[in-house]
Amino acid sequence: MKIIELDKIDSTNEFCKRNNVGSYIVIAKTQTVGRGTKGRSFSSEEGGLYLSVLRKPHKLESVNAFSIMTNACTAVCKTVEYFNLKPVIRWANDVLVNGKKICGTLIENTFSGSFVSSSIVGIGLNVNNRLPDGLKQIATTLSCETGKEISLSEVKKVLISNLNKKFSLQEYKSYIDWFGKEVIVRTADGENTAFAVDVDTDGRLTCIIGGSLKKISSAEVSLIL
Ligand code: BTN
Repeated sequence: MKIIELDKIDSTNEFCKRNNVGSYIVIAKTQTVGRGTKGRSFSSEEGGLYLSVLRKPHKLESVNAFSIMTNACTAVCKTVEYFNLKPVIRWANDVLVNGKKICGTLIENTFSGSFVSSSIVGIGLNVNNRLPDGLKQIATTLSCETGKEISLSEVKKVLISNLNKKFSLQEYKSYIDWFGKEVIVRTADGENTAFAVDVDTDGRLTCIIGGSLKKISSAEVSLIL
């Protein structure tokens, strides 16, 4: 796949939206308006890996769109493992190491009829970048976790190679070590303690809240460590 490398951009996801032609990967050394999920910003200082993959999936039904997310997260986990660290997925698409977020994913799909016509997978992986003071308690970097400076070009190479692979839902779930445990689930209906059971074949989080089995499509999960 074609790779576009930029020094500075507002956001690699926005770049893909403005240049929504074909398939490619765009990587930026830094982003001025890095975006996270739920309208949040994403700190994107130099030293991290910020990239978006634009694809035109062939006959991917909208009902299976979650596989884009599970594939991307698994690719990130395999990359983190390459550096001898133990990644954990915080459903749906954050990757943590030692309880702190090392990577966030922002997936923006466009649908046409019952198919995904275009998908943008934006990945922000903390590598050697400095973290703002406000994030140090909850976020980490490959460099902090390994105790050494990491070659950004090596991370790039490994991640891109993993993003070109196909992973199963089973592999995605193998990075969840909190099934059978209590988590905090925040949805539009409020905050609940839940007993995490599974991620189903539609990518929904299955959990028990107040004695009943729920399948949740969108929520923020906090792991109780
Ligand atoms: C999150 O943690 O909420 C998602 C963060 C996604 C960040 C990546 S960095 C590359 C791409 N461009 C963006 O503006 N966001 C994504």
